[in-house]
This record gives sequence, C-alpha cells and structure tokens, in this order.
Amino acid sequence: MATGVAANLVLLPGDGVGPEVMAEAVKALEAIGRRFGHRFVTETALIGGAACDAYGVPLRDEDIRRCRAADGVLLGAVGGPQWDGVERGLRPEAALLRLRKSLRLFANLRPASVMPALIDACPLRPEKVRGVDLLVVRELTGGIYFGRPSRRWQNRRGGAALDTMIYREPEIERVGRLAFELARSRRGLVTSVDKANVLQTSRLWRQTIDRIAADYPDVTLEHVLVDAMAMHLIRTPARFDVVVTENLFGDILTDEASVLAGSIGMLPSASLGAANRKRGDRRFGLYEPIHGSAPDIAGQGKANPAGMILSAAMLLRTTLGLDEEATAVEQAVEATVASGVRTPDIATGVAASTAEFGDAVVTAILSA
Ligand code: IPM
Ligand code: MN
Repeated sequence: MATGVAANLVLLPGDGVGPEVMAEAVKALEAIGRRFGHRFVTETALIGGAACDAYGVPLRDEDIRRCRAADGVLLGAVGGPQWDGVERGLRPEAALLRLRKSLRLFANLRPASVMPALIDACPLRPEKVRGVDLLVVRELTGGIYFGRPSRRWQNRRGGAALDTMIYREPEIERVGRLAFELARSRRGLVTSVDKANVLQTSRLWRQTIDRIAADYPDVTLEHVLVDAMAMHLIRTPARFDVVVTENLFGDILTDEASVLAGSIGMLPSASLGAANRKRGDRRFGLYEPIHGSAPDIAGQGKANPAGMILSAAMLLRTTLGLDEEATAVEQAVEATVASGVRTPDIATGVAASTAEFGDAVVTAILSA
C-alpha cells in the first residue's frame, strides 16, 4: 500500500437534502481513510440559503478563501422555496455560481453510466441503455449564466428582461481541449453540441472546436445540434462517449442524461479548473452531485446519497490521485445497489433510508 496522504477538504452541505447526503459521503471517506491509511481533515462552511439565514449573504468571502486554500471541496446542494423571493444577488444559486467563477472552475465533468443492476430502473428499454457510458463536459463559467448585461425592467407594455449569451474563443478552447484529452483515455469520440444553425455563439463554438481538433487526429469529432442531441440521448445513448457543450445546454442535457442512470440521485460531478503547477499533481476541484436540494423530501431520510458519495470518489481520483480508493468507493456503491439496499427513488422492495444506504456503502468499503 502507498503511504497515507493527508488532505484538507472543505464541506459545503448547503440546503435541503444537502446536509443528509453530505453526511454519507463523509462516512464513506472516513471508511476509505481507515482502510487505506489516509487522513481527511474536514471543515464545514455554510452556503446558499443556510448562509443567507445565518449571515445575510449566501456565501461569505472568507469561505471562498477557505475553499481556495483547501485541496478540494465537496458540495451538497443549494436552494429552496423559502429563498425564492430574495433579491437575485442573494439567491442561494448565486452563491454556487460565484463559487464556480471565483475558483475558475471552467469545466464540469458529468459522467453518466448505467449500473447493470439499475437497467430496469431506467424507463427506456433495457437494450437501449445497456452499455451507456458517457461523459458530459459542460462549460461552467461562461455563456448566458454570466453574460452582462442581465436585467429586468418595466415599460409601458409590461415587464421586459434581458440575458446575454457571450463566449470568447479562449473559453471555448480550454474546455474543448479538456474534452479531447479526456476522449483519448476513453473511446476516442467527441460529440460537440451547439445550436450553430441559429446562434452566433454556437458558430464560434463550432469553429473553435474544429480548429483545435486538428491537434487531436486520434480523436473522432462530430457536431450535433442541441435539439437533435436531446433526441439522440434517449434514442441511442450508448453510442456517445465524450459530449462537450456550453453551460446552459450542458445543464439541460445532463438532467436528461440522468434518466439513463435510473435516477438523478445517482450522478456525481466534478468541476475543475486549469492544472496548477504550484499544487503539484493535486488538481483542485469542487465535487457535487448533479441533483438539487429536493426540498420536498428534505429531512426525511429519503434522499439518495449515491451521487454525493460518487462525487467524493471523483475527488479521490482527480484531486488526490487516489485511483484505487476511488474505485473502492465506486465498487461499494455498485455492490450496495446490486444487493438491493436502495433509497426510494430506485427501490424495488422496501426502501432503505439515506443513512442505511450510507452504512451499507461503509460496510462494503471495509469488508472488500
Ligand atoms: C446544476 C444546477 C445549477 C446550475 C443551479 C443550482 C445554479 O442546476 O448544477 O446543474 O444551473 O448550474
Ligand atoms: Mn442543473
């Protein structure tokens, strides 16, 4: 066994089911620490509505600094109906966007694969979903999420609103290059998704991707329009490998892709920035499940913590370089699901609670 590592992690449980799923990810990390001799030092900070209630802002500057100083960050979820009315800069979602932007996490990796045991949890026919193993690389700090101006106003005819979708070539290039590099270690296919028949930003996107593709002759590139992609993702999901797209399209398509995995509660994500030489091979990242705060089931022990636990696995692999440990977590989650211990979203018989699922994952990690 390699010598143990010590890692400093910031935990941002957030709102709704966030704290419940976070607790299970922490249990899994502790089990990994025990089995492999690593030490994970964690500190917890508030984000989203929880921070709004406590401090009057959804994210404090000092907490951004704590995140930046850590090796990596785990985040649960933000938002809830009780904060829907607040002014937009104070919305819980604004905190998450600000965190991604200030940590320069321009690429959001969202793998979607289907565990054999969950093929029947997917509403598509089994022969369609078998073998699905795709990775969406979503641009995360540009596009319509961040473009200025963005405002609302009133005129004589009623309300009006404006959002700006803007991309600059370097923003497309860096996420595009990452997609090509990732495809090299997978099946060698990049599907770039845009709306180049309508949008200027998409025409720039396509041109830029085409230009950099020349540097990756070993990778196959195809362009697909986003509306058609929404259809192909359901009709022929197994043919895709790496899918790269802009921020809003990626947000929408990954919710769609989550259906393939049986439940949105299953899917993890990693938000990454440029590799930083000062950190050596530790690549900073923010890891979060793709599901939201699910206020309707919060506090009831019904949330599926798999996406959060699998996000911790991505942290182990990508930020800490602990491949064997990451695989151990993934295998434990898969074994747990296969054994029939399942939260209500994927249960076939009596459902397990969030904590029972987490306990079963811990047992599987320690008994492997
Ligand atoms: C996601 C979420 C966020 C997004 C929201 C909460 C700001 O939907 O991570 O997919 O739109 O990026
Ligand atoms: Mn989303």
